[in-house]
Amino acid sequence: MGISILRTPQSRLQQVDFNHLPFGRIFSDHMFQADYEGGSWVNPRVLPYGPLSMMPSTAVIHYGQSVFEGMKVYRAKSGELLLFRPEENFKRMQNSSVRLCMPLVPREIFMDGLLALLKLDADWVPSGDGKSLYIRPVYFATDPVIGVHPSDLYTFLIMTSPTGPYYTSELKVRIEKTYSRASRSGTGYAKAAGNYAGALYPTQLAQQAGYNQVIWTDAATNTKVEESGTMNLMFVIDGVLVTPSLSPSKLAGITRDSVIELARYWGFPVQERDVFVTEVVDGLRSGKLTEAFGTGTAANIAPISLICHEGEDFRIPAPTADSFSMKALTFLDALKRGEVDDPFGWVIRL
Ligand code: COI
Repeated sequence: MGISILRTPQSRLQQVDFNHLPFGRIFSDHMFQADYEGGSWVNPRVLPYGPLSMMPSTAVIHYGQSVFEGMKVYRAKSGELLLFRPEENFKRMQNSSVRLCMPLVPREIFMDGLLALLKLDADWVPSGDGKSLYIRPVYFATDPVIGVHPSDLYTFLIMTSPTGPYYTSELKVRIEKTYSRASRSGTGYAKAAGNYAGALYPTQLAQQAGYNQVIWTDAATNTKVEESGTMNLMFVIDGVLVTPSLSPSKLAGITRDSVIELARYWGFPVQERDVFVTEVVDGLRSGKLTEAFGTGTAANIAPISLICHEGEDFRIPAPTADSFSMKALTFLDALKRGEVDDPFGWVIRL
């Protein structure tokens, strides 16, 4: 596939303070773009990161036909660049696209576009603990037509952003039983833009009450834990790693999968199953629930320090170096940076 390259006349790299990288606010010099029109993919190109021009009637603005992904590339101590499980992001974007009635982005557009972009902006990959280049592929409908139907035109873009941790303070979450993120046969498993829009209001209410995020419960009964705003959820209860099993209403997190695989590899007992709010609350009361954490590409492995249920706050002791979550975090961070062997074949060296 011929990808054309238009370099920025003036790099912004020197303006970036790599010691202070707020999440998602700084973008590297270039982006990748390819367009879908007349039933085929055209004009794959790397070009300077910059504004898009679109008609006010553009479909995505009105009907939200948009899916996205999040992945990261890390810099090893040797300087080498290491990409973590991009194939899983590609597959998940295909699943999301089917659900939103969008044509599939071909593998070579996704992968070759990504590699061409990373080659050009390699100097934007930060080094150091907690830092990486966050990669955001986004795919959306561009028909300049008002009317609820699948678009005929689409744009696929990849942008990148040097970043530090997503959560920078302690993580306090509130179990949400009034609003739902996703129903059993809705779009919950897709990384659809609209899922995030619908989550904003309940999350804002939780934030106004002093929490950072909500724990979503199932829409039908509000008795089962689903996921958190930006992460899947895991608990250690009675020495077992317990996490809600995947379902059509939950996002199939790649960090979630990596942590489960790692636990199995280590022989740590794992249960993927329904997780009831009552058992979480009972575990918090009795002390049998010793760890709660979120997993996600942006969030990484994020310990939860407090859970609120029906107005009652339960504190969870800070994890120690021996806690499962901290061991998993340390190991996966080292693996992503090429500092330990990768028995899973997850790391792609660029
Ligand atoms: C990610 O973890 O990559 C996400 O897309 C979550 C987003 C809320 C930052």
